[in-house]
Amino acid sequence: MKTMSELGVPVPASISLMRRFVKNTSVEQRETALRKGSYNLFAFPADLLILDFLSDSGTSCMTDLQWASLFLGDEAYGRNKGYYILLDTVRDTFERGDLPLKLINLIRSGDTNVDQLSDQLYLASHQGGFVNGGEYQLMRPNAFLCPQGRCAEHLLFSTLAQVLRETDSAKQYWIPSNGHFDTTEAHIVANGIETVNLYQKGATDQLTLEQIETFNPFKGNMDCERLEAFIQKKGRDRIPMIFITITNNTVAGQPVSLANIRKVSAIAASYEIPLFFDACRFAENAFFIKRYEVGYQDRSIQSIVQEMFTHVDGFTISFKKDGMANIGGGLFFRDRGVFQKRFSAGEDIGIRLKEKQILTFGNDSYGGLSGRDIMSIASGLFEVVGEPYLQNRIGQTHYFARRLAENGIPVVLPAGGHAVYMDMDRFFRHTPNRPEEFRGIGLIIELIRRYGIRASEVGPFSFEWDQKSEEQRQGILNLLRFAIPRNLYGKEHFDYAVAAITELHENEHVIPAMKITRGASLRLRHFQAGLEPVYDAVPAE
Ligand code: F0G
Repeated sequence: MKTMSELGVPVPASISLMRRFVKNTSVEQRETALRKGSYNLFAFPADLLILDFLSDSGTSCMTDLQWASLFLGDEAYGRNKGYYILLDTVRDTFERGDLPLKLINLIRSGDTNVDQLSDQLYLASHQGGFVNGGEYQLMRPNAFLCPQGRCAEHLLFSTLAQVLRETDSAKQYWIPSNGHFDTTEAHIVANGIETVNLYQKGATDQLTLEQIETFNPFKGNMDCERLEAFIQKKGRDRIPMIFITITNNTVAGQPVSLANIRKVSAIAASYEIPLFFDACRFAENAFFIKRYEVGYQDRSIQSIVQEMFTHVDGFTISFKKDGMANIGGGLFFRDRGVFQKRFSAGEDIGIRLKEKQILTFGNDSYGGLSGRDIMSIASGLFEVVGEPYLQNRIGQTHYFARRLAENGIPVVLPAGGHAVYMDMDRFFRHTPNRPEEFRGIGLIIELIRRYGIRASEVGPFSFEWDQKSEEQRQGILNLLRFAIPRNLYGKEHFDYAVAAITELHENEHVIPAMKITRGASLRLRHFQAGLEPVYDAVPAE
């Protein structure tokens, strides 16, 4: 007889403990809500939707252990216990591989041994890694909690720009990446530094359904040749740091291989340029390495994560993604590493960052978060590296992509980790689809209006096609993103979405072009601008 794993279907990884029934809304009700929200996708009330694929950020369904941990947090103004727990969880997750200490269990078990709590948790000294502890965190701060990933970006880039200005105000600086996320890019640019995205060649190549079963091209990789050429052209001093985004959200959520991380790290080290991860989806990236990169099949996710992080000098992270939490972010860098040494000539950069953290988000032990949220992040970090969880998570993304592809819908293959991306350049077969018509938004508007499904656009509207030069337009892909919240949906939800998208694919003539009515030149305009549908013909119903 077949064993569990031979049955040909995935073994379920979790069960649901709570249900929420969706509201029964009509097409007319959703149409009114669309109109009153100026057809801005972010302004549509989530409670009126059936499925929401707008983002995987902060939308995770928390686990029972996360909820239980939340109750164990405290809201002290100075040094809530979650602060110690989360900092040690960061050491566990990113530095200790297969040997985590899991000090969260001291709190979960109600341990009352004060000496043990003090020695291991509250008064423990650490130095030399991503998270100094005890007096070293006061002397050389290198761990900064904050409410979101973009707050960590704000802390990092505004402080870095200040240091660079003090060194030489006339210089121009660049931060290369395999693909900066939009908030990262906006923060870098807002601080007078330029960005450059060095996508690997073939990022948009299409694989077949058969190929993706056994092979992954790690399309999120950085183009190392271009990186090296870029450093030589601009000069090492003009490049304060290099970023690798894992997974690469801007390139369809595609993973980055360890081989690529190693190579970029070697280049960065040879020029003594600090290398940072944008680590939002580190666990999903590690899962791809385990499954598809030669030599990693027998390794645990934890040890792969550890290896990935030995190659970087620091990272920013949004715990709203692979922290499995609803809020939280952080900035961490190696004690006495390249970053700290390069930018601490005047004053220790960690001290400056801490000052800014306290000014903007609150004191360092809560950084704008509630103590209970900090506990739920710590718990989530342990659960997100669970292999059954990741198998289910990536399995969902791939199921959704496969079903769409089988119905002839052009999706990016292989699918990435957190989302399915649909190619708008190939979706429309009969309708004119000029970038400035923003028909991708039109498609989402119809998905919301007719079927109660929301997604997001990562194409000409969000990347401001109409505001850019011919040269800047080159890198703009025309994609829709269906981001999948963690632990929230099951097969029936994806099947409903596939049926709805297929129906619109077969009736593309009902999908309107969109006109911007307000806020065309705003930065990150997709959150605020107003739009209006322009129907080629009046919709039939
Ligand atoms: N970096 C990446 C790669 C991201 O995907 C995000 C957020 C951030 C940084 C910023 O983090 O939202 O906590 O401030 N991405 C969300 C998304 C918004 O939908 O992809 P944040």
